[in-house]
Amino acid sequence: MTSNSSRLLKLFLRRRSIRRFSSKPVKETDVQTIVEIGQRAPTACNLQTYSVVWVRDSRLREKVLDACGVTGSIGNAPVVFVICADARRLGEVLDYLGDDHCMKHGYGYSIKLMSIMDASFMAENMTMAAESLDLGSVFVGSALANDEVIKTLKLPKGVLPLTLLCVGYPDEQPPTRPRWPLSSVLHVDYYQDPSEHEMKTFLKHMDDELKKEGYYQKYGGREPTYRYSDHIKRKTALKPAKKNDAEIIPVVKKTGFLPGEAI
Ligand SMILES: Cc1cc2nc3c(=O)[nH]c(=O)nc-3n(C[C@H](O)[C@H](O)[C@H](O)COP(=O)(O)O)c2cc1C
Repeated sequence: MTSNSSRLLKLFLRRRSIRRFSSKPVKETDVQTIVEIGQRAPTACNLQTYSVVWVRDSRLREKVLDACGVTGSIGNAPVVFVICADARRLGEVLDYLGDDHCMKHGYGYSIKLMSIMDASFMAENMTMAAESLDLGSVFVGSALANDEVIKTLKLPKGVLPLTLLCVGYPDEQPPTRPRWPLSSVLHVDYYQDPSEHEMKTFLKHMDDELKKEGYYQKYGGREPTYRYSDHIKRKTALKPAKKNDAEIIPVVKKTGFLPGEAI
């Protein structure tokens, strides 16, 4: 392994979400580098179906953070990006070419789905670019199909906000967070459900590691007894999920990202 590749792997292995940022500003050239590195990510058929909005204006930034329910330290991040799946720009070029493309007729669902992959790969590249510039970052998922974000940033049909990416110099040095063991995630040849033993060991590992950090107290203001199992149950509870679906599905439809919707 070359020293370059080992440095790169170390960078990947040390990445963790940063939720407390110093007030040190991020240079505009670094912001541009982060997005340029984002653009180097693979993109389906090189269609480049993504856009990033750097929310620079303080009034707009306030509105976006507010719409996403961001309170506290994440909101101090000097740079806020909105990562979007974007089938519109592709449609614009095709219109310019006078082409009667599928999206005009509500077809091309795989293009819409792949635009979400495109934008996600871009976002991941951006986090690692930030990391290599000694910056930290965290995503904020409540931007997903958030109608207030769409209205505030005047996102047109064909552009679906997926997540915020908040970036800045870290004002904390948290540990890396626990994961499933490789053996549960890497299936060789055939898929295998986790055994009871694997699940039990996994849950204990998550609890032990997150407790060491005091993760849920620090970031969520939870009781010390709050565990990872409580967290996954809360995140997948039926009642709020039903309400959330009822809120976001009409917005996804409005953006044109449901099957059959013309863009
Ligand atoms: C799509 C997405 C949305 C996320 N949304 C939030 C969020 O709203 N607030 C937050 O504090 N962290 C958010 N995160 C960060 C995750 O909580 C974090 O990646 C996970 O707990 C693992 O921790 P790590 O990144 O430190 O390894 C999000 C991550 C992703 C990929």
